[in-house]
Amino acid sequence: MKLTIAMIFTALSLLFSKPPAWTAEPELITLPQPRFDRGLPLMQAIQHRQSSRLFSKKNLPEQTMSDLLWAAYGINRPKSGKRTAPSAHDRQEIDLYVATANGLYLYQAKGHGLNQITAGDIRKLTSRQKFPGQAPLNLIYVVNFSRMKGVPRENALEAAAIATGAIVQNVYLYCASEGLAVVARGSLDRKKLAAVMGLGDDQHIILAQTVGYPAQ
Ligand SMILES: Cc1cc2nc3c(=O)[nH]c(=O)nc-3n(C[C@H](O)[C@H](O)[C@H](O)COP(=O)(O)O)c2cc1C
Repeated sequence: MKLTIAMIFTALSLLFSKPPAWTAEPELITLPQPRFDRGLPLMQAIQHRQSSRLFSKKNLPEQTMSDLLWAAYGINRPKSGKRTAPSAHDRQEIDLYVATANGLYLYQAKGHGLNQITAGDIRKLTSRQKFPGQAPLNLIYVVNFSRMKGVPRENALEAAAIATGAIVQNVYLYCASEGLAVVARGSLDRKKLAAVMGLGDDQHIILAQTVGYPAQ
């Protein structure tokens, strides 16, 4: 076969071009370093822990988002990559999705950042109740069963629900410490929400949790 200049040029441009969109890793939006030098003493945070359903529409600052997500399920032992909440056999099967007015994101503990999944505002779809659609932040706890290979589904679901509870409580205590309003939520249309989020067969929504400033 005779190689033409055009063919060589095409081959070279394919070799050195960026990977196509469908193979490219989503960009990591890195969050500021979490602040470790603040917050109520633990006993006082526990004393203030409570659920609240009256939220202001005011957005949370990026720094607060960073502190909150790190407290929830960040890496607190960088050498081992272990997290602020426990998981059975350290499978780390829970993913934290973050729904805001600006879109849906996936929290990446490694690198402490967010991957944008969609730019759409899906907050309303995270609940059967009204207030989550107005609050600035809704966390969605999703188990990825592909990280629990060899564990029967019933046991995997039980472990995932327990692991989620630990993360949810971290968020409750962080909010108590910062004077934020928060509530865990199980009342949601999981099937519909999973479809909107583009979840796969190996993923299941365990719970949601709304966070924001308390309504004045
Ligand atoms: C698994 C779970 C699911 C919940 N689901 C909802 C919910 O869908 N909507 C809601 O408003 N509160 C929900 N809550 C919050 C409870 O109603 C709340 O924790 C309870 O009333 C006790 O109040 P407290 O958290 O202030 O102690 C849920 C709590 C848990 C642990």
